[in-house]
Amino acid sequence: MNHSNIICVCGAGTMGSGIAQVCAQSGFVTILFDVNEEMIAKSKTKMQESLQALLLKEKITIAEKEEIIKRVIFTSNIKDCKADIIIEAIIEDKNAKANLFKQLAEINTPQTIFATNTSSVSIDEMAKEIDRPSQLIGMHFFNPAPVMKLVEIIKTENTNSDVVDTIFSFTRQLNKTPVLCNDSPGFIVNRIARHYYLEAMKLMELGLADIKTIDSVMEASGFKMGPFKLMDMIGMDINYSVSKIVWEALDKPERLRPSIIQQHKIAAGELGKKTGKGFYQY
Ligand SMILES: NC(=O)c1ccc[n+]([C@@H]2O[C@H](COP(=O)([O-])OP(=O)(O)OC[C@H]3O[C@@H](n4cnc5c(N)ncnc54)[C@H](O)[C@@H]3O)[C@@H](O)[C@H]2O)c1
Repeated sequence: MNHSNIICVCGAGTMGSGIAQVCAQSGFVTILFDVNEEMIAKSKTKMQESLQALLLKEKITIAEKEEIIKRVIFTSNIKDCKADIIIEAIIEDKNAKANLFKQLAEINTPQTIFATNTSSVSIDEMAKEIDRPSQLIGMHFFNPAPVMKLVEIIKTENTNSDVVDTIFSFTRQLNKTPVLCNDSPGFIVNRIARHYYLEAMKLMELGLADIKTIDSVMEASGFKMGPFKLMDMIGMDINYSVSKIVWEALDKPERLRPSIIQQHKIAAGELGKKTGKGFYQY
């Protein structure tokens, strides 16, 4: 990939915003698309703040900050989404993602690569629903995308080998570390991490410890963030959808049953940092 290649990120939420920033910081013209104008406005502000923080830490200059922002094209018109690599980071729902890729295939060339940032939807299953399965690949970033180095790369049996090579080198150009994973429920990190969240909520439900104690104990034991703080950062709706998809894909084992606590939080609109309240108040 060279810097004349164009990247498009779909979904300007928690992940899409961060991924678009990473692409623009790495020198790529980046289209950031969302169906929701309000999310686009929020994303613009968030990106400005994030770059301002880098400026204050002297990691970028004022000129670089301005260049980075200039490289991002914010849009709510899907017709603007013409690119060499499209990374989708919309809601965690297979049909929504497949529908988006179908619409994007109509306005892009056969060479365009479709990457999905899904945490748990089977890439093989998604490939069955779209028009160009050989161009589909999983590119799973971690939150916050501008900070976290790991990207899980998931290929299907249909993914073109050139697509895999391009995505590996593109990921390195973003200054990230690509790791090839099999297409199994939750890939590697989210499969193992389910227990971190679910067991924490079980302890809370049984009244064995409160959320602050659980978070501080886990942080004191070496984890960067306690499970409740982490769920608030991820977003309750996304975290719950991932649990549900992984649980169903593995034939509903009791040990991975999604928590009723999260269902209640979602029903109350308490999605975490993005809505101002989750397990904690922001
Ligand atoms: N939150 C995390 O920590 C995290 C980490 C890694 C991967 N992911 C994955 O990234 C994806 C996005 O998660 P998120 O936390 O950023 O979600 P989010 O709720 O913060 O943002 C989703 C955005 O997608 C937009 N959207 C919905 N349908 C759309 C469509 N058809 N076209 C364009 N935009 C659309 C919404 O308006 C919203 O702005 C999910 O697949 C999730 O599993 C999330």
